[in-house]
Amino acid sequence: MSTFARITGTGSYLPEKVVTNRELEAIVETSDEWIVARTGIRERHVAADGQFASDLALEACRGALAAAGRTPGDVDLVVVATSTPDMVFPSTACLLQAKLGITRGAAFDLQAVCSGFVYALATADLFVRSGTFRCALVVGSEVFSRILDWTDRSTCVLFGDGAGAVVLEAAPEPGILSSHLRADGRYASILNTPGHVCGGAIQGDPTLKMDGGAVFKLAVRVLEENAREALAANGLSVDDVDAYIAHQANIRIISHVAKKLGIPEERCIVTVDRHANTSAASVPLALDVAVRDGRVRRGQTLLLQGVGGGFTWGSVILKY
Ligand code: ACO
Repeated sequence: MSTFARITGTGSYLPEKVVTNRELEAIVETSDEWIVARTGIRERHVAADGQFASDLALEACRGALAAAGRTPGDVDLVVVATSTPDMVFPSTACLLQAKLGITRGAAFDLQAVCSGFVYALATADLFVRSGTFRCALVVGSEVFSRILDWTDRSTCVLFGDGAGAVVLEAAPEPGILSSHLRADGRYASILNTPGHVCGGAIQGDPTLKMDGGAVFKLAVRVLEENAREALAANGLSVDDVDAYIAHQANIRIISHVAKKLGIPEERCIVTVDRHANTSAASVPLALDVAVRDGRVRRGQTLLLQGVGGGFTWGSVILKY
């Protein structure tokens, strides 16, 4: 592995329709105060009818390619992290590839729920560093509004739709410094969407189920352990982290982990207030927001972390 992989551009897209906590008060028995206090969420974006993960991804990729100064013709790998694909098959990545007009290289989806983008970035990094591909689009795109039970106040207030993307290219210097991916399938039951298609019909419940308390505790524990392991492997301390971009599920999870690690609040990128939990899209969305508002700059050291269903979690440390 002679080369490195570096993010050369970021992009993101949020559907037009915004749903505030107040609007949810009309749908389920909840309140803006409860949602803000327990989660930090104030509003979320919801995709229009007929707008799919590949459509959101397309806009995010256009932004990332423009930022990188690349065209679709330069891309030879498309990886889409999603748990809400357009269809059973082909992959959302193939549908996106066609929408972008890319006809070469490889395209595939990656399923690691809310850890999906971190898993996808780690995977694309290996392909680029090995010289197999030179220019990858790495995308997180979700329409979680489609798999929510809109009568269940304990879950429907937590999620939103959106997409984020990066262009990852071969470079003489890092780039991505390390990835530490983990999973423990024994925890599959605390967060899942258990339905499946059989005989042309949905079998089981196709809406999201969650044991919120169990997810909270596990997420805080594994994120802290994983961040310490990743930093130590690079000989870095928390003081070396210029920006901490964790999965945006709940402000309390992010704050707890940051506090345990000793990362000051001003170095934590937070978008959960405006985006809610967009699953695999949350980390690249937050990254793009921070790049565009100037908080993330070239040469900085970033700690990205995902955590979610599976249970899956992981870190990527990179020089932006
Ligand atoms: N509005 C008003 N009341 C509600 C709502 C709501 N939307 N949802 C639940 N409640 C009620 C409950 O019914 C309960 O009432 P009760 O005491 O009368 O039984 C009360 O609020 C407290 O419920 P808890 O579940 O104990 O509340 P908690 O403080 O644990 O917060 C939450 C719940 C926000 C889900 C929290 O557990 C959490 O953040 N967990 C992490 C889960 C998460 O972020 N998941 C995202 C997906 S996972 C991932 O991305 C990593």
